Amino acid sequence: MTAFDYRNGELYAEGVALSAIAEQYDTPCFVYSRAAIEQAYDAWDSALEGVPHLVCFAVKANSNLGVLNLLARRGAGFDIVSGGELERVLAAGGDPARIVFSGLGKTAAEMRRALEVGIHCFNVESAAELERLQQVAAELDVKAPVSLRVNPDVDAKTHPYISTGLKENKFGIDIAQAPAVYRRAAELSHIEVCGVDCHIGSQLTDDTPFIDALQRLLQLIDGLAAEGISIRHLDLGGGLGVTYRDEVPPSPGSYLAKVREALAGRDLTLVFEPGRSIVANAGVLLTRVNLLKPTEHKNFAIIDGAMNDLIRPALYSAWMGIDAVKPRSDVAVQTWDLVGPVCETGDFLGKDRELALAEGDLLAVRSAGAYGFVMSSNYNTRPRAAEVLVDGETTHLVRRRETVSELLAGESLLPEA
Ligand code: LLP
Repeated sequence: MTAFDYRNGELYAEGVALSAIAEQYDTPCFVYSRAAIEQAYDAWDSALEGVPHLVCFAVKANSNLGVLNLLARRGAGFDIVSGGELERVLAAGGDPARIVFSGLGKTAAEMRRALEVGIHCFNVESAAELERLQQVAAELDVKAPVSLRVNPDVDAKTHPYISTGLKENKFGIDIAQAPAVYRRAAELSHIEVCGVDCHIGSQLTDDTPFIDALQRLLQLIDGLAAEGISIRHLDLGGGLGVTYRDEVPPSPGSYLAKVREALAGRDLTLVFEPGRSIVANAGVLLTRVNLLKPTEHKNFAIIDGAMNDLIRPALYSAWMGIDAVKPRSDVAVQTWDLVGPVCETGDFLGKDRELALAEGDLLAVRSAGAYGFVMSSNYNTRPRAAEVLVDGETTHLVRRRETVSELLAGESLLPEA
């Protein structure tokens, strides 16, 4: 099943025409498919059937409460990186015992809250963080469950901004230093060593680097076992890529089959932190052509979605598919740059696209379910877009459009002179 398909000459999200969504909720607007999210989550979960496992959705990829809620109902765990994401998961009905807490700058307050609610595990990224966690856990008189996030120094061969497992990256503990940090963790009174963790990068389209990293982690686990430090769970992070254009990433099923083969005979609970592969292709950004501006050098279609709504093209030169919601044949196909109204040359969602366009046309920017709304900003005092979740023939407004008065609400004028 693909959630976004043409029917009667127009693009639908499940059983609802995108034009009807634009009519009801206005544009720009993110549209998600419940079925597509559930299907993508199930692909992970079912590929792990028969082994103890936890699929922890990486909340950073899409943290809308409606989305988190449907994953929580499905039994998902969650990978969080901030106290804010923790509160989101709790508000969405997520089970704290299925939360892993990643991120390299956890504050004492964040640690305290996570200990109070009883999360599954802290993915600790430095020796200093371990000492802080010991202190906070001691104050609360509890034991903090810990994995060390190890940096295995493998090249994920992805965009440099989203590659995280190389020695020069800020993330994790150098695998060569990890045994020493584990020894320290094992002797701390309020730390309980549970697992080992890594996350080598995002949008990987080849599973070889994952398996290389896994082999390095297994060597580490065996070395620790010889010292009497037992590791119960292995967290391989997220990072599985998706098709934006013509990439052919492995499916969760084929990737996980290789992982299971490499782990045969071992008694380990498997943890994964997929984000993009669960939500990217379950969402589109719906935007409308505001004005057409053909020039001598370029044809610009000025749309109402902009870099503040979807920053991936500007930030990573990411290519996102862009399709007409109602393809028309009454005007000629031309080459268009699809640009937003923001005052930056980098404000484009697509360049050199062959489209037949007229003012007022609706466009769908594909694969916008991951790292879309969550990375949006109010730059140029643009209220953030609405988010709509489609479930069959029904739509749910899971985040209403922001208003300008909400944007101004937290600010104040200076006192009278
Ligand atoms: N776990 C950790 C510790 C992570 O840092 C990330 C992503 C994930 C899991 C989820 O990875 P995924 O399965 O989504 O690849 N904004 C960028 C992507 C940044 C990814 C950051 N970390 C983009 O739009 O491409």
